[in-house]
Amino acid sequence: MKILVINGPNINMLGVREPHIYGKESYEALLTLIHRTALEEGLQIEHFQSNHEGAIVDKIQQAYGNTDGIVINPAAYTHTSVAILDALKAVSIPAVEVHISDVDSREQFRQISYAGLACEYTIKGQGLDGYRQAICYLKEKYA
Ligand code: DQA
Repeated sequence: MKILVINGPNINMLGVREPHIYGKESYEALLTLIHRTALEEGLQIEHFQSNHEGAIVDKIQQAYGNTDGIVINPAAYTHTSVAILDALKAVSIPAVEVHISDVDSREQFRQISYAGLACEYTIKGQGLDGYRQAICYLKEKYA
């Protein structure tokens, strides 16, 4: 089973950016967690991070026909991007949305998720472990 993990803008700043919200663990620690999960679960995992909306749309389109599941944290684009929503709908690959923070308890504008409309499951407020949970969810359901 092949899973694509996509992270949006500023996720590469983990550990530096607002540690009281996103934690002190670095982006490298997230990559280590993702690759360890892949190893433990016997999955093929590709990871992609971009600060650019169009690059994320391109990556989702490229997953068509060669990826069994998508784990996506669109970050700020969660709340703005119809293009990412449409790309997820276009490829119809089972997708899980992850947010490191508990977006429900934050500003009003974070309560809207466009990408989430194309995701079958959302994990919020679980820190970096949310990515592991999302990967395991996809494995249990589709492997
Ligand atoms: C985030 C929440 C978003 O509102 C924010 O813009 C992010 C990260 C999260 O993982 O908690 O960049 O997606």
